[in-house]
Amino acid sequence: TVLVVDFGAQYAQLIARRVREARVYSEIVPSTMPVAEMLARKPAAIILSGGPSSVYAEGAPGIDRSLFEAGVPVFGMCYGFQLMATTLGGTVDNTGAREYGSTSLAVSRPGSTLFEGTPAEQTVWMSHGDACSAAPAGFTVTAATELVPVAAFENDERRLYGVQHHPEVMHSTYGQQVLEHFLYRGAGIEPSWTTGSVIEEQVAEIRARVGSSRAICGLSGGVDSAVAAALVQKAIGSQLTCVYVDHGLMRKGETEQVEKDFVAATGVQLKVVDAQERFLAALAGVSDPEQKRKIIGREFIRVFEQAQAEIVAEAPGDHPVEFLVQGTLYPDVVESGGGTGTANIKSHHNVGGLPDDLEFQLVEPLRKLFKDEVRMVGAELGLPDEIVHRQPFPGPGLGIRIVGEVTRERLDLLREADAIAREELTAAGLDREIWQCPVVLLADVRSVGVQGDGRTYGHPIVLRPVSSEDAMTADWSRLPYDTLARISTRITNEVAEVNRVTLDITSKPPGTIEWE
Ligand code: XMP
Repeated sequence: TVLVVDFGAQYAQLIARRVREARVYSEIVPSTMPVAEMLARKPAAIILSGGPSSVYAEGAPGIDRSLFEAGVPVFGMCYGFQLMATTLGGTVDNTGAREYGSTSLAVSRPGSTLFEGTPAEQTVWMSHGDACSAAPAGFTVTAATELVPVAAFENDERRLYGVQHHPEVMHSTYGQQVLEHFLYRGAGIEPSWTTGSVIEEQVAEIRARVGSSRAICGLSGGVDSAVAAALVQKAIGSQLTCVYVDHGLMRKGETEQVEKDFVAATGVQLKVVDAQERFLAALAGVSDPEQKRKIIGREFIRVFEQAQAEIVAEAPGDHPVEFLVQGTLYPDVVESGGGTGTANIKSHHNVGGLPDDLEFQLVEPLRKLFKDEVRMVGAELGLPDEIVHRQPFPGPGLGIRIVGEVTRERLDLLREADAIAREELTAAGLDREIWQCPVVLLADVRSVGVQGDGRTYGHPIVLRPVSSEDAMTADWSRLPYDTLARISTRITNEVAEVNRVTLDITSKPPGTIEWE
């Protein structure tokens, strides 16, 4: 394991992912963890992440010197680099000369472990105020920028390395290579970690834990719950029952996809609960987005609990249902560990996100994985592409894509428009380029149009294609006009009641991705 010490910026997760892309297993630990505890985990190497602060700022996080004396290879990046410099006796000047963004780095390659085989001039991503002007004794300086005389240093004997830039960021052209050079050459680690090894490890662990007991899993049709269920199914077969709540707010073909494709690929035991009437009745007359979200969340839990009670009742006495499978991912685990409160923008409701008072032990086989790794595991488990590469879809479904009251007619209309947009985006080969494209019905708005010889008074549809890396921020996707034109023509021709198609060109912030 490579430990990534998190100094509080958003970089640690990205570094951990890049290390895994290099096929080396990595985990994130907080910088407040005592060095002895880090070393007790017997890490193959330690990476010090960037951070928000200057090493001279009041309360700036530090690191105990003993970290560098344990014989464990260490790689410092940005803040981590400056921390290494000051801790080991180098000089970091509080110059106030800020370098931010793409910067040209001049590297001297002979004898460099990090930069060998990369160009003498390369573009890197910088983000710092202070600058290192003298490396610690015994270190070789291997890179500089116009403003920073010491932008990288290396000590092969002690296996300590540092760079001022952010190699984990896409804009650092040779970043991944530099990182791999540290891992493979500097630290001497063999790249051997694969998602295949996760499957084996998890299957064995789940079997041992569940024994002859039984488990249930809420399926939403999303990637995470599908992969978690498939993995548990591989481990315990018919001891697992999946529950899929059809709330009638799904897109066209989605329930069928779960019923047919997922079951075909996994052989899982599936209980589909048709709760459409119940959800529609509960949503009748409600237009307020937060209220809709709360109602959908509440009803979902009720239906799930009822299904669960039925499954338990069917279970023979000596095989109780003791486990609940959830598709929790590594970023959720990391984030809930270091939680400072954030404002409640929307009550996110995860289908499958169940209340704490359900009396189960949790099985979370994806706890150590990032989203892209979950997709790889899904593919290895034989799940179809449509499930593995599914774009995000909110738990409350189309219920929060109808601005206004949710009715069956409106849902049917939106389902048609959404299916057309998805079909055309897929046909244009744009699925992997965009993050997702909500299609929204402005049910309370009408506008005048003309179709055939007559006047129409219909509803507008909004297309909301966005590109994003993590949904925290997003930009509107610059889709080709031709594709937009086809979507617009088809929707207005094929969906009665819709006489206008509009494009949402707002980034997030200020707009959120969904309209409600
Ligand atoms: P917003 O609208 O907050 O959406 O910018 C960010 C991402 O989250 C998805 N989303 C949800 N996902 N339950 C979910 O599982 C929810 O209640 C929910 N609301 C929004 C949204 O589709 C986007 O990918």
